[in-house]
Amino acid sequence: MCGIIGYVGGEAALGHLTEGLAALAYRGYDSAGVAVALEGGGVLTVKAGGRLEALRERLREHSEAAASHCGIGHTRWATHGRPTDRNAHPHTTARLSLVHNGIIENAAEWRTVLEGEGVTFLSETDTEVAAWLIDRAYAELGDPIGALFAAAEHLRGSFAFAVLYHDRPDTLYAMRRDSPLLLAQGASGAWLASDTPALLGHVRRGWRLPEGMVARILGGGIAFFARGGEVAAPPTEEFAPSAERAERGNYAHFMRKEIGEQPRALRRTAERYVRGGLPCFPLPDSLFRRRRLRLIACGTAMHAGLMGRRMLERWARIPAEVEIASEFRYRDPILAPEEELCILLSQSGETADTLAALRHVKACGIPTVAIVNAVGSTIAAEADHVLYTPAGPEIAVASTKAYSVQCAVLLLLALRFALVRGEMGEDEVRAVVEALADELPAVIGEVLAGEARVAELARGIAKAEHLFFIGRGVDADVCLEGSLKLKEISYIHSEAYPAGELKHGTISLITEGVPVVAVMTEAGLRDKMCSALREVAARGARVLAVVAAGAATAEFGDGVEVIALPRAAEVVSAFAAVVWLQLLAYHAAVARGCDVDMPRNLAKAVTVE
Ligand code: M6R
Repeated sequence: MCGIIGYVGGEAALGHLTEGLAALAYRGYDSAGVAVALEGGGVLTVKAGGRLEALRERLREHSEAAASHCGIGHTRWATHGRPTDRNAHPHTTARLSLVHNGIIENAAEWRTVLEGEGVTFLSETDTEVAAWLIDRAYAELGDPIGALFAAAEHLRGSFAFAVLYHDRPDTLYAMRRDSPLLLAQGASGAWLASDTPALLGHVRRGWRLPEGMVARILGGGIAFFARGGEVAAPPTEEFAPSAERAERGNYAHFMRKEIGEQPRALRRTAERYVRGGLPCFPLPDSLFRRRRLRLIACGTAMHAGLMGRRMLERWARIPAEVEIASEFRYRDPILAPEEELCILLSQSGETADTLAALRHVKACGIPTVAIVNAVGSTIAAEADHVLYTPAGPEIAVASTKAYSVQCAVLLLLALRFALVRGEMGEDEVRAVVEALADELPAVIGEVLAGEARVAELARGIAKAEHLFFIGRGVDADVCLEGSLKLKEISYIHSEAYPAGELKHGTISLITEGVPVVAVMTEAGLRDKMCSALREVAARGARVLAVVAAGAATAEFGDGVEVIALPRAAEVVSAFAAVVWLQLLAYHAAVARGCDVDMPRNLAKAVTVE
């Protein structure tokens, strides 16, 4: 996964490229590079391991690049080879420079063949193999478009390529398979990019490059080619501008800003999906008569699916399974196209595993609904139906507000299923909807108001090497999310366990001073949780119990630090607990001096399998 950008036109290319790379950094930020056609002839390639700033610094030494009108750029999330200068893109051969987003699965085989033909590789990347295959085809055919088609035939895996042939310094060529690529023509030139944030400053409309085509990009126009020659341009699409500008404002980090945006995002969710006090979705009734549900997602979105499943089963009594998208296809799942509905959850709408799962279930004839935050993304475009989560742009790699809104949409869906299936009456549904629509945003506001105490507790755990989260029922789902957030941004190793499971093995890891965060919002499970608290406290754990308001603290035993959540309906307390855990992770990461918004080894959108 990576971000690619290209520009050809009347203006200086370099500014467009670095600006585009900054906008695409959410796709990977472990190295970056550009290749620009120089005015006096030749192509200059500059690349640097590390953040974009390292590349910018290096570019300051190359004043000759400033006059270029044509170039390509890349921001990387390493798949093959470490994030070094050498492995950064563009990769250059005798005849071309190439940037790539995706993974070439048969790169190792071709590397051996090409080495046998005398190629000396300069990097460990799969991309350099593709570059040499295109180079070889170009040498043979002399046709830049034919060379791309010919090389693609040899490649397994996914790719979006942008190529600058060195003997065609005013033209770029692009092709893709499974990885996204957009094209746009503006007054001052033409662009290609992996995603809209790199384009919206210049254009509002453009093309999604169809698979099986090559695009030729000149300053004056973009042309499309199939194998047999030039073809008509596909229809353009509107690049949705975001209603909410993604700016950090006075916040130190996007993540903290986004945690704080949850009350507003949840209010918008209710405005969109509640009518007359009842859940209401732009979906055909027939979907609500399906007999089983499958929720498919990755990471945090998958955790939202877990909370959704619990409520779908509890309220609507409909069988629901949650699938980790990356595992789903490979376990040869037994599907029931006549009965099932598949719900795909994704903030970015570009996650490769989730997209592959969507394509798989669609091919099996199962109706699909995507719950997606990024408007116009691939998953949103390919699903039969889309429910957008109005969370607004989420920039921090750690997902916070998108998760809460995904949970809220799923809970409203669960209530709709409960109504249609006659499992809950209208009044009962209205009461829960009211809690979600009115009480929830206010309660999150109260959790945020108590941030100083969370920060203090976070500083207390910041030196820990290991930490455990325990909960039962919906709190077990909440713990999984709290644990992921903490390890993702603070690098503290943490594990989440259903509290009852601890005694089946993991409790052996509980020793003097090990922090255990216990989440307790389910009143019916409190007694059982209290037993678990006593068990870990008896072994010296430092226990922080995040509990729904109203529980008598004496129940918890000695030495347990109790954090009472604001008074709220039970379902609202689960959300409140998640927000509390988000703040805990955030402040622990800040205390440890971590790069909160761009944690190591990660990227916002995971567009490779
Ligand atoms: O864009 P998606 O929701 O499909 O992304 C799925 C996961 O990669 C994502 O939720 C990831 O786990 C987050 N970085 C966690 O905060």
